[in-house]
Amino acid sequence: MTAEFTAQPVRSVGGTAAVPGDKSVSHRALMICGIAEGRSEIAGFLASDDCLATLTAMRALGVRIERPSDTDAVVHGVGLHGLRGAAQALDMGNAGTAMRLFTGLLAAQPFASRLIGDASLMKRPMERVARPLRAMGADVRTLDGTPPVQIGALGGEPRRRLKAIDYTMPVPSAQVKSAILLAGLYADGVTRVTSPAVCRDHSERMLLACGAQLDNAGLTTALHPPARLEARNLTVPGDFSSAAFFIVAGLLGAAEQGLLLRNVGLNPTRTGLLDILRRMGARIEIENPRESGAEPVADLRILASPLSGIQVPAALVPLAIDEFPVLFVAAACADGPTVITGAEELRVKESDRIATMSAGLRALGVAHEVAADGMRIMGRPQGSAFDGGVVDSHGDHRVAMSFAVASLRASRPIVIRDVANVATSFPGFVALARGIGLDVSEAAR
Ligand code: S3P
Repeated sequence: MTAEFTAQPVRSVGGTAAVPGDKSVSHRALMICGIAEGRSEIAGFLASDDCLATLTAMRALGVRIERPSDTDAVVHGVGLHGLRGAAQALDMGNAGTAMRLFTGLLAAQPFASRLIGDASLMKRPMERVARPLRAMGADVRTLDGTPPVQIGALGGEPRRRLKAIDYTMPVPSAQVKSAILLAGLYADGVTRVTSPAVCRDHSERMLLACGAQLDNAGLTTALHPPARLEARNLTVPGDFSSAAFFIVAGLLGAAEQGLLLRNVGLNPTRTGLLDILRRMGARIEIENPRESGAEPVADLRILASPLSGIQVPAALVPLAIDEFPVLFVAAACADGPTVITGAEELRVKESDRIATMSAGLRALGVAHEVAADGMRIMGRPQGSAFDGGVVDSHGDHRVAMSFAVASLRASRPIVIRDVANVATSFPGFVALARGIGLDVSEAAR
């Protein structure tokens, strides 16, 4: 049995919403506080399937984690050298972030581990983390480049201390950078990672907050292996990538006072979508900016805005990497063509997002051309609707939620297939979407 959404056409949204906690920050909070010394209280934790996979794995590695409520986690850190080997393979579900970061963390431990995941994750590239970790002296094996990831031979000898490396990543990837930094905590010197472009820096912020010494020079991060990490209480900000669906919904149809999104994480390595949408004509006001859990946070007021197509600057691509599905929907509603290039990484996300979005746009009658590294989407003049129809998310949470937002411009209902994975990043999406006025319902099929 699978689940599907039906999104009935609506013309306006409004009110106030607060999206759940940030997925990237929640994964990192569990892992980094888990190897810190002492008790860390994490508020605003994202209780999504992806983060719960990390939580279950940390418990299997010997870290006690209490859950006083759905959005609170209390992590009793075991210290850098306190993890113990899990009896079974660690199942990361759909979570690429969990698998890649754990590969780095576990590559440095004196015990063997095996990482597996769901059908989508078992097809995703893992050599991008395995290769630099091998250069550090770790024993990391993949199956022709994909999971299972085997770290150390079962029953094998504890490994020697990892060597520090100076590594330049071929693609800007926060997951690869974070995996190397987590392994670098255990290395024999300063580990340096250089990215070809700016990408998210949540690991660096959290490691610093827990007392690690990190230096940033341009696109290079240098980590000095710490003697210990300190426990740290933190509040996880609302996930910008979840807010993105409501940002686009507000631009397409916010009523008079706009749509207010409270407590949205605005880490500048995540907010490329704001820059892109503003270039398209979006009116988005930032209110009450503040800090939360070593991350910048604010409330966003989204005003209905006529959008125009643009050429998306390539430098903004890594800063908006998870937001392209919903950006494609915004582009379909803009006046004139929007051209996206340099986004080949979209091909190796939870689905091939260029292919799945193209198939969905085609089903709705949105004219577009596909390229190996992006898409050219012919927008339509403000106010004109496109068709409804049936689209398949191919189990990709962000594709599913993006097509629900498209109902603000559809002339007939949009049925979205295979949506159960929305729970991997945004539990409660349907209720929050309905709360702002989208007419989305979920049914088993
Ligand atoms: C993430 C990094 C990005 C992003 C993913 C979360 C992270 O992946 O797409 O959803 O938490 O580090 P890449 O590192 O592959 O770009």
